[in-house]
Amino acid sequence: MSNNTLSITDNRTGKNYDVPIEHDTIRASDLRQIKVKSDDFGMMTYDPAYMNTASCKSEITYIDGDLGILEYRGYPIEQLAEKSTFLEVAYLLIHGELPNQEQSDYWVQRIMRHTYVHQTLTRLMEVFRYDSHPMSILISCVAIQSTFYPEARNVDDPKVREKQIWRIIGRLPTIAAFAYRHRIGRPYNYPDSTLDYASNFLYMLDNMGERNYEVDPIMAKALDILFILHADHEQNCSTSVMRSIGSSRVDPFTALSGAAGALYGPLHGGANEQALLMLRQIGSVANIPTYIERVKKGELRLMGFGHRVYKNYDPRAKIIKKIAYDVFNVTKKRSHLIDIAVELEQIALNDPYFVERKLYPNVDFYSGIIYQAMGFPIDMYPVLFAIPRAAGWLAQWAEMVQDKDQKIARPRQIYLGAPRRDYVTIAER
Ligand code: CMC
Repeated sequence: MSNNTLSITDNRTGKNYDVPIEHDTIRASDLRQIKVKSDDFGMMTYDPAYMNTASCKSEITYIDGDLGILEYRGYPIEQLAEKSTFLEVAYLLIHGELPNQEQSDYWVQRIMRHTYVHQTLTRLMEVFRYDSHPMSILISCVAIQSTFYPEARNVDDPKVREKQIWRIIGRLPTIAAFAYRHRIGRPYNYPDSTLDYASNFLYMLDNMGERNYEVDPIMAKALDILFILHADHEQNCSTSVMRSIGSSRVDPFTALSGAAGALYGPLHGGANEQALLMLRQIGSVANIPTYIERVKKGELRLMGFGHRVYKNYDPRAKIIKKIAYDVFNVTKKRSHLIDIAVELEQIALNDPYFVERKLYPNVDFYSGIIYQAMGFPIDMYPVLFAIPRAAGWLAQWAEMVQDKDQKIARPRQIYLGAPRRDYVTIAER
C-alpha cells in the first residue's frame, strides 16, 4: 500500500478504504464509495462557507496566511508594489509571466484604447438616480456590456477571451469616473489614453476643463500601488463567484458583474467603507477603549480587522500604512483618523481577545484613510477595490475556463426538510 493514502474505517460497517492523497488533499468524490447499503448515495463532506475545501487547482496567487505571505505568480507582493505597475501586474496575473517590452507596449496600448466606452453606456448612466451607489452603477454597467458584445459568449476562443479582458480592464475606470461625476452632477471627462492607467482615472474624476491640468504623480503612483495590492487574492468570496458563474459558460461581463456584487458586501470589499465609518464613529483616541470593550462583548466588529486566511499581519496592510503618509505629504491634510487607526491597532494587537483569535489589520483597515485623503467619497471605496480586482477575477476565470478538471459548479446539500407528504387544498389547511 502506498504511503500517500488516507486509510478510513467506517465503523458503521467495519469496512476499510484507502483514499489517495495528492497535494495534502483527498478528492471529496473518492468518499462516495463509502456506503452502508449499495444503493446509498455515498459519503459527502459538509463544509459551509468552504472553510476547508479546495475548489480548484490554481497557479495564480499564493497566500501563506500564518506567515503573512502574498505572491502573484511567485513574485512577492512587496517587490511588485515597489517595482511594477498595475497594468504589468494585470498582465502577469492573466498571462502567467511578466511581459517583455514589446508585449508590455501592446498590452498597455490595447487596454488604454479600450478605456473608451460605448455611447449607449454613457446614455445609460443618465438614468441612474442622483444618489445611486456607484458600486451598483458599476455592477449594472458591467452587466449591460454583454448586450453590446454578444461574441463574448464564445468563452472557449482565446482571442475572444483576450478582447473581453482588454475591454473590461480598460472600461472599469471610465465607468467608475462617470458614476462619480454623475453623482455630483458634473459632465463626464472622456479618457485620455496617452496617460498611464491610474493617471487617466484621476484625470477623468477631477478635470474641470483646465487645459493645463496635470495629475499629481505621487497621487497617481499611490493609487497604482493600491491597485497592485488589490489585484488578486485567490479564492475569496467574489473570485469564487466569478469562477462559479463563469463555470456555466456565460460571458465574462455577466460573470464579472456577479463577482462585483459579491465584493460590494460589507464583509468583503465593502469593509473599507465600513472601516472608515467606524473610525469616524469612534471620533477620538480617547473613545477607543470603550469601543474595544463593545467589540469584545460581541456588540460590534472591528471593521478592517480579521481575515479568513491571514492569521498574521496582512502584508498588504503594511504597505498601505506606509503609502498613507506619502499621500498626506502631498495633500498636506493629515487625517486625524490615522491617529485613531494607529492607536486602535496598537490596543487591539496587545489585547488577549484579538491575540487569541489572531485578528490583525487587513487590507481595508488603512486603505479608506488614504482614499479619504485623496478626496474620494466613501461610497467610491468598494469601486476602487473592484477596478483592480477585475484583473484577478479575469485571470481566475480564464484559468477556470481552460481547466479540464472543472465543470459547472454545483455543490451538494444535506436535506433536512419535511419528508414526502401530499398536497392539501387551501380550504383544508
Ligand atoms: N472584530 C471582532 N471580532 C472578530 C472580528 C472582528 N473584525 N473578526 C473575527 N472576529 C472574531 C469572531 O467574533 C469570532 O470570535 P468567537 O470565536 O469568539 O466567536 C472569531 O474572531 C472568528 O471569527 P469568524 O467570523 O469565524 O472568522 P471568519 O473567518 O468567518 O471571518 C472576516 C473573516 C473577514 C469575515 C471577519 O474577520 C470580519 O468580519 N472582519 C471584519 C470585516 C472585514 O474587515 N472584512 C474585510 C476582509 S479583508 C478584504 C477582503 O478580502 O474582502
